[in-house]
Amino acid sequence: MDTMDNKTEIIDMKPKISDFRTEIIMGLQNNPKNTHPKFLYDEKGSNLFDQITGLEEYYPTRSETEILEKQGPGIAEYIGENSFIIELGGGNGTKGSILLRSLKAPLGYILVDISKDALELAVRNISSRYPELEVKGICADYTDTEVMENLKVPGRKSIVFLGSTIGNMEPPEAYRFVESCRKIMSDGDTLTIGVDLKKDITKLERAYNDSMGITAEFNENLIERINQVFGCKIGKSAFRHKAFYNREKGRIEMHLESTTDQEIVLDGIRIGFRKGETIHTENSYKYSLEDFESMLKEARLRNIVHWTDSGENFALFSATT
Ligand code: AVJ
Repeated sequence: MDTMDNKTEIIDMKPKISDFRTEIIMGLQNNPKNTHPKFLYDEKGSNLFDQITGLEEYYPTRSETEILEKQGPGIAEYIGENSFIIELGGGNGTKGSILLRSLKAPLGYILVDISKDALELAVRNISSRYPELEVKGICADYTDTEVMENLKVPGRKSIVFLGSTIGNMEPPEAYRFVESCRKIMSDGDTLTIGVDLKKDITKLERAYNDSMGITAEFNENLIERINQVFGCKIGKSAFRHKAFYNREKGRIEMHLESTTDQEIVLDGIRIGFRKGETIHTENSYKYSLEDFESMLKEARLRNIVHWTDSGENFALFSATT
């Protein structure tokens, strides 16, 4: 445990860091080829994602921020006073800070993130704005049920999972995640989740195909990372960004499309691509208000409420046990 000062603390639970080389090679041997979205978030990827959140076309961050700002009093009322806020994967802490503006007398703020760098940044960001608040960072993987079961606090708790990060999960995975939250909740505890909503396809697709090409850069950064880690030289134009809405599955899919027939060699393993063949790099599931509510109900949560932004682009759901 390394203490930053008397109000903040970082606990490193040493999450298993997935092996980029092995997982990438495995994913590229799948048919169709795919890689886990977590690999998009190296240092450069995280910076690019931060840029994405400020883009005109990328409405989710702005919409969620609007909800946190305008509905702050209602959210604070639901969460109640004197509880520990546990934010899962809070990025740089910006949204947590906005939420804190409305919350009445929180007992402490606990951030759980697998990235120690992101965690340190978020803890600093929040504690500099709320110097009297006890802020604790736990470096751990919150999708690990064992980690969740060990998130004990001496009082009421409010679990917060913002940013539509739940959209990265397959629906059954999202369900299990919600269940793992419910299992550690007692009477009076709350769970709050940010969800991106189904909407006009043009608007959805524009958000993942921005005119400045930042999302393309974010996606194509995976190729750069592969070049760095494996020491290979896949050219800049060998793959291109492709993102579209899959209506049947209710998700935006991001892919890297091979622009030619080609072969790449990673650790001596040959991987062939046909022109037009893709690597599926990320999913971003969109829910209807009804679908998300049913999912929460199925996971045996109760007193389900939601708030949306004025454009009904995004929703914040809260529930209790
Ligand atoms: C961080 C998963 C919420 O799905 O909108 C943004 C990631 N990818 N643009 C999303 C993302 C491309 C983002 N999440």
